[in-house]
Amino acid sequence: MTARGKLRLGINIDHVATLRNARGSAWPDPLRAALLAQAAGADGITAHLREDRRHIRDADMAAIKAAIDIPLNFECGATDEMQAICLAITPHAVCLVPERREERTTEGGLDVAGDEARLAAYIAPLRDAGARVSMFISHDPRQIEASARIGAAVVELHTGLYSDLHAEGRLEEAEAELEALRRGAAHADALGLEVHAGHGLTFDNVAAVAAIPQVMELNIGHFLIGEAVFMGLGPAIEEMRRRMDAVRAG
Ligand code: PXP
Repeated sequence: MTARGKLRLGINIDHVATLRNARGSAWPDPLRAALLAQAAGADGITAHLREDRRHIRDADMAAIKAAIDIPLNFECGATDEMQAICLAITPHAVCLVPERREERTTEGGLDVAGDEARLAAYIAPLRDAGARVSMFISHDPRQIEASARIGAAVVELHTGLYSDLHAEGRLEEAEAELEALRRGAAHADALGLEVHAGHGLTFDNVAAVAAIPQVMELNIGHFLIGEAVFMGLGPAIEEMRRRMDAVRAG
């Protein structure tokens, strides 16, 4: 199968807020980053409101939703508090992720198969409010099938392990993980799920994920916010886009 058209790029601006919060000041402002990303060609803005508010805060989410013209992808844990905030903000998309306080970043995918009945009930009002609900999962077929059964519109496949293996130079293992991501993407697509991917993507590892034909959107944050220190946020986003588009065009 050939790749299907242009791949969307969602920019995760959480770590602009991390930098701001490190000094307890008002800058750098994540809203400014969202607007800059939009101007640089981002197709969406992703932000994760964590239970501990370690980066993005409630007021950031509301301000970003009000100011941007592109879709907002609201990432959160599947808690009652987050469901109420999502229903008040009505983002374009809600991406449910596992969340543990002690983790540095989102480790592993959501266990949809192990929490199926609760998650089916949890996402129903979000779907009724018009949000495209996405499950951030591993490529495990059981998680993909459970996501389809509960009525999620989208699965976002966790690329963190692939990214780590690639960065450590364990290229055979990275290729095996990529192959599992490819199989997962094809399986999800066959079940009628839209497929997204993200976590740990960089200029050096993005091409192989962008080449998976069923993947419609990548969500990328930490690397690009880091790269913005050196080359500026707009140019970093443009370079990522160029690398994604080169794969799809080829
Ligand atoms: N997608 C999801 C669901 C995530 O939780 C994250 C990290 O917050 C990302 C994408 C972006 O990952 P990174 O910041 O490593 O690019």
